[in-house]
Amino acid sequence: MRALAGHAGEHERGAGGGGVGCPRIRAGGRHGPVPQLAGPDVLGEDQTTLHLVDMGNEAVGELYQSRGYPPMSHPSTDPAATSVAAWFAGLRPPHPGTARILEIGCASGHNLLPLAARWPGALCTGADISEEAIAQARRRAAEAGIRNVSFIAADLRDLDFSGQEFDFIIAHGVFSWVADDAKKALLELCARHLSPSGTATISFNLRAGWEKRLPVVAAARRIMEEHGVDVVKALAILREVMAEHPDIIAIIDDMLVKGGEILTFDDFAPMNDPWPLDSFAAAAVSCGLRWLGDSNPAENIPSSLDDAARETLAPLVGDPLRMQMTADAMAERTFRSGLLCRADAPVSQRMTTGMVMELAVRPQEVRPAGISPSLKDFLEALDSFRPDSVPVAEVLEKMGAADLPAMAKKVFQEITRGHLRARIEPVRIMKGMERPRLDPFRLLCAREHIPLVDAWHAPCLFTEKIWPLLAEIDGTKTEVELAGIARRLCPDLAFPVWLRHLEERGMFA
Ligand SMILES: C[S@@+](CC[C@H](N)C(=O)[O-])C[C@H]1O[C@@H](n2cnc3c(N)ncnc32)[C@H](O)[C@@H]1O
Repeated sequence: MRALAGHAGEHERGAGGGGVGCPRIRAGGRHGPVPQLAGPDVLGEDQTTLHLVDMGNEAVGELYQSRGYPPMSHPSTDPAATSVAAWFAGLRPPHPGTARILEIGCASGHNLLPLAARWPGALCTGADISEEAIAQARRRAAEAGIRNVSFIAADLRDLDFSGQEFDFIIAHGVFSWVADDAKKALLELCARHLSPSGTATISFNLRAGWEKRLPVVAAARRIMEEHGVDVVKALAILREVMAEHPDIIAIIDDMLVKGGEILTFDDFAPMNDPWPLDSFAAAAVSCGLRWLGDSNPAENIPSSLDDAARETLAPLVGDPLRMQMTADAMAERTFRSGLLCRADAPVSQRMTTGMVMELAVRPQEVRPAGISPSLKDFLEALDSFRPDSVPVAEVLEKMGAADLPAMAKKVFQEITRGHLRARIEPVRIMKGMERPRLDPFRLLCAREHIPLVDAWHAPCLFTEKIWPLLAEIDGTKTEVELAGIARRLCPDLAFPVWLRHLEERGMFA
């Protein structure tokens, strides 16, 4: 693979034996050379890559200092869920309940704070370059009484935790959105600070799905500059111009659904650098890490691919990385949440019947068409626990299953197909509380109009009228009293149904 010159940024570190090289990017040019990687040459041939204008890390920093990133939790980073992917890959990280959790690029802490609140025995650390976001995270932690979390305002390239180790490192929405020296620093930080069985969940944009999207971004940018309009208006103009091209219209519509705020930080960020999966995996290797697969075991092969598409991938079963890359290309996938561990991590454990028994599962909202008919009884038993996530052992006991190893194997397969959702600890929902109560962090979120995070770490947004009603659910009022308040604040709300929905999402403590 060709060696390329690095990007001489202010914070450029020595190459330290290779690692992620930096593409030299021509301003405004779309086609540039590929990142230089010191890891295994997976494809064994030169590749070309697509890049947007390289505005450097300073522009990235400026964006986040000037405009706070919208608070959001990301279920794909939840250690209770990512641990399942680690188990399936042969690694057993410590239980997150007493683990050390680090989030890089944590913004105002909306992903980390709910994890810290859920596991008071965990030690959580968040870091972000934006001082304002960190100040907000600290204030929210203090006001919600979350004491097992600390926040650091720093550039990730300057972070050094002097010998400290973390069992879970999370960097969501960072890798593809920072300059290459910061990408390299992120991977090196993971290699330096992961505990022996720890995992890092790092998301990045995938070249497979961005080949067609980047020209759309470039065209919309030109319209923004030439006409002085915002991103949404520019996309609307482009939509009219491209009316005859349904594939481009589909991309534009997909972008418009995200809305201007997210687009500014994602598709239209100063830096949006989608990487091929093998380059990411090789970069990780060159920094002393190892690619374990997707942080969701059901997404190693994108869930959007049907059985026929999966059939065509069968010959690649002995080469998981190539299989995943081929699947990404078939699905035109734009994003991955990757799971990494240390190169010397003990990745040797095989999934046993006992381990499957320990997993807590719940069904998808709608029963998937392709689910194995032999799991009918299992699904019926599982349905009786809705909405909880319950240990497989409990479900099998309820259905009176005899052949446990055979059932465990089927359950395992259905988890990898995304037909069952798994985590390494149960979720038991409290029902019928006399005085429903949001915990202090959720109450704070309600008062500040930011998403409430449910028991599965999924964010839940509400319309403007609902926030004041949510803020009343503080454990001092009965359901009848709350219904009275609801009639006054939002007369069109089907209050009992709405309250049950919140209850089923595990919002009440
Ligand atoms: C796209 S946002 C993602 C925020 C959050 N992780 C999420 O996914 O919701 C990227 C975050 O990375 C932070 N960031 C960017 N460059 C950084 C750097 N060099 N060091 C530390 N944080 C950085 C930004 O301030 C911002 O909060």
